[in-house]
Amino acid sequence: MPRPHAQPLALSLRRGTGLALPVQLAAQIRDLLRRGALAPGSRLPSSRTLAAELGVARAVVEQGYDQLQAEGWTQALRGAGTFVTDVDVRRPPVAPLGSPVRAPRDDRSRLIPLDTGTPWQDPRGDAGWRRAWREVALQRMPTGYPDAAGLRELREELAGYVGRRRGIACTADHVLVTAGTTHAWSLVLDNLPAGPVAVEDPGYRAAAAVATDADRKLVDVPVDSEGIDVGSLTEAPADLRAVYVTPAHQHPLGVTMSVRRRMALLAEATRRRVLVVEDDYDSELRYDMAPLPALAALDLDRVAYLGTSSKIVQPGLRLGWLVASTAVVAGIAARRTRGHDHPSWPLQAALLSMLREGHLDRLVRSARRVYAERSRLVVERLGACGHHVDDVAGMYVAVPLSARQETAVVAAAGEAGFALPPLSAFCRTVARHGVVLGFGAVDDRQLQRVLDVVEGALKQP
Ligand SMILES: Cc1ncc(COP(=O)(O)O)c(C=O)c1O
Repeated sequence: MPRPHAQPLALSLRRGTGLALPVQLAAQIRDLLRRGALAPGSRLPSSRTLAAELGVARAVVEQGYDQLQAEGWTQALRGAGTFVTDVDVRRPPVAPLGSPVRAPRDDRSRLIPLDTGTPWQDPRGDAGWRRAWREVALQRMPTGYPDAAGLRELREELAGYVGRRRGIACTADHVLVTAGTTHAWSLVLDNLPAGPVAVEDPGYRAAAAVATDADRKLVDVPVDSEGIDVGSLTEAPADLRAVYVTPAHQHPLGVTMSVRRRMALLAEATRRRVLVVEDDYDSELRYDMAPLPALAALDLDRVAYLGTSSKIVQPGLRLGWLVASTAVVAGIAARRTRGHDHPSWPLQAALLSMLREGHLDRLVRSARRVYAERSRLVVERLGACGHHVDDVAGMYVAVPLSARQETAVVAAAGEAGFALPPLSAFCRTVARHGVVLGFGAVDDRQLQRVLDVVEGALKQP
């Protein structure tokens, strides 16, 4: 059979680009192959000829050819040359995977956020942060995959932390390290049988979104001044699997769940055999009195407790802790092991160092001072224009207003350059209005300015 004639190749290799010449050569030929410019069966020029044409050493061409052969694009036949293999490069027209996602146009993104999720950052916290990372960097990296439930020493330290601060009597076996509350919630959902879950309304939007994304039907339960209305749960479907609550500081209304409701919720959960998921996102940040012990302190078999570093350090750390029965922890850890969803070792080691060294406690103390001062200011200024607010915890205040006032105040804040969340945005089925003023991300001057604007809008007839 006559040998097919070698086609000349339009290649151009450049030195000094940071890419080795054989890599450039292989990439350009691969590109010709992918575009179908070199047909299956066609012969590549000999390495000697191509090297001479390109003005490079023959070894450059040989290395490039070896790479293409290793990838399966070409085949060298002894004494005959290098040939293009029969790879079908045509692609059938297919619909793209998933629908194209267009980034939402959000004009509010240029505004200063008054959100409930961005905490104040203690400028003196940097030293403790650096100390922790220095300590991590001096350690030897452990080999292999870490424990999917988290570093043992960290879990022991966290068991002590939730015991001291939240009254939960537990051991490291009850603790699982997570990437934050929302991650923990999705792990809990993955570990539960199919069926709907109940959420507070108004409530934490991310919790509802995570459950919906996990194909769970939501049962919206109203909230009053004592917390979630446990009585309405009796109407929930029989296959309800979990109830997501924020007992220490209802998000976003700010109320504390009363002892009466806590007992009723646990009784109902036991009767129905559902899991109570306790989101304890900011209980460290109470400044009027000590928070009530966690619900999980009453019954760790019925309650899965979610703690986070997002409020006391920063959300960027992405670390949290789930405290639950050993069965729940073991079930989730087994699933995480299967999926290689192990928490990152350096991050865990840094949190461990911060906990042991007392850095987290210091951050909590200074944040409490700042938030107490800011919330006092908010309460005083709103009180002066006839709006009594008695929630004094965390880094935001919910101010109930009429629907008309909500629209007016949010619009006035927007004009002044602030994104002030309306209360209605936290509601799924109930109609409640007001604003939820987060004061973590602003400085004192900006907060004064926001309050001037809110006061001005509320004074409008
Ligand atoms: C109610 C509530 N829970 C939890 C979190 C923290 O979530 P994560 O730990 O995933 O950062 C937030 C943050 O804004 C929150 O508002």
